Amino acid sequence: MNSKGYAVIGAGYFGARLAEIITTIEGARLVAVLDPDNGAEVAARLGCDVESDLDAICSREDVDAVVVATPNYLHKEPVLIAARYGKQVFCEKPIALSYEDCNAMIEATKSSGVLFVAGHIMNFMNGVRTAKTLINEGKIGELLFCHAERIGWEEPQPTFSWKKLRDKSGGHLYHHIHELDLVQFLMGPAKTACMVGGNVAHNGEGFGDEDDMLLITLEFGADKYATLQYGSAFRWNEHYVKINGTKGAILVDLQDVKVILKTEEGETRYLLHESQEEDDDRTAIYKNFEVDSAIAYGKPGKTPPMWLDSIMKKEMNYLHYLVQGGQADEEFVPLIDGTAARAAIATADALTLSLQENRKVDVSEVTG
Ligand SMILES: NC(=O)c1ccc[n+]([C@@H]2O[C@H](COP(=O)([O-])OP(=O)(O)OC[C@H]3O[C@@H](n4cnc5c(N)ncnc54)[C@H](O)[C@@H]3O)[C@@H](O)[C@H]2O)c1
Repeated sequence: MNSKGYAVIGAGYFGARLAEIITTIEGARLVAVLDPDNGAEVAARLGCDVESDLDAICSREDVDAVVVATPNYLHKEPVLIAARYGKQVFCEKPIALSYEDCNAMIEATKSSGVLFVAGHIMNFMNGVRTAKTLINEGKIGELLFCHAERIGWEEPQPTFSWKKLRDKSGGHLYHHIHELDLVQFLMGPAKTACMVGGNVAHNGEGFGDEDDMLLITLEFGADKYATLQYGSAFRWNEHYVKINGTKGAILVDLQDVKVILKTEEGETRYLLHESQEEDDDRTAIYKNFEVDSAIAYGKPGKTPPMWLDSIMKKEMNYLHYLVQGGQADEEFVPLIDGTAARAAIATADALTLSLQENRKVDVSEVTG
């Protein structure tokens, strides 16, 4: 099989490591990177070209696929340009900060007949796959309710990145779209959305302008519900998803790392990541974390922790499989054509409207 050429746009904390991982995949070539700040350094280190223009990098004949890892508010343009040149597209999460932009990106990739793979990395977590299998096997009966928390505390920072600015990252809900995406992956798209909260404890110097307390209720119809909490105004750190069914429940704990199936027969414990070592490494990092992880990690020059690196590798290998013409399992199709990512953003937009207008919002108000 011919080797496939990759370009990476945005080579900071995440993009640089995705680029490096590509260099290790058999049959994959890292052709070029584009990043106004880090491009030259990353290209020199990884032995590829550096480009400074989106058209130039996306039009290269030796590029088959483009990986977009720019800041969240800068995903749309590279995706549209890559699609215009007929390149397969992988885009980091959140793919966009509005339903409207998601539509434009899906339309562009669909009409060019290319992949539009969303970087919803939780789908590749071992424990999430286990939870999905247990649910499909009927172990917890019919799903009734999911509850997710991704909460912690943020201290004032001498400097802060785009990740703390609402118009650039989307704030906690959009930037950490993973849990909302997972809940909808399990329960289907939400019908109504309600969110209260705001910026309750992080105004002024040393802070961005994102809301630090977001309290969410979703209704899925047929007596199925979910609640989620996001933010950095919580002194009691938590990061988990609880999945409740008629016969049992599953805990996916991303902080005191483990997956537990609880039924009448008792509790069974599973790994969240690939090995006990990876689970323990993540627990050691996150269990007593005093700061928001977007601050502690997530800077150019920092390397992702062991567990994250491991799923990044899985994700890039899967991308390469698809770029080579591999077929996705049915349940992964919405992940590779942008539609699952768009469904998450539609609900996030409905939640934003709910907070702004102080009312429960039908998600169809966003999707039309
Ligand atoms: N899936 C995950 O778990 C995960 C984890 C971290 C980050 N991410 C996502 O990856 C993306 C990048 O995040 P990051 O942590 O690497 O941020 P970062 O700030 O470290 O890197 C962003 C890079 O983009 C570059 N950039 C800025 N404007 C650009 C432009 N117009 N063209 C090309 N490059 C440009 C910056 O110079 C910087 O090097 C974001 O969308 C983020 O949400 C995903």
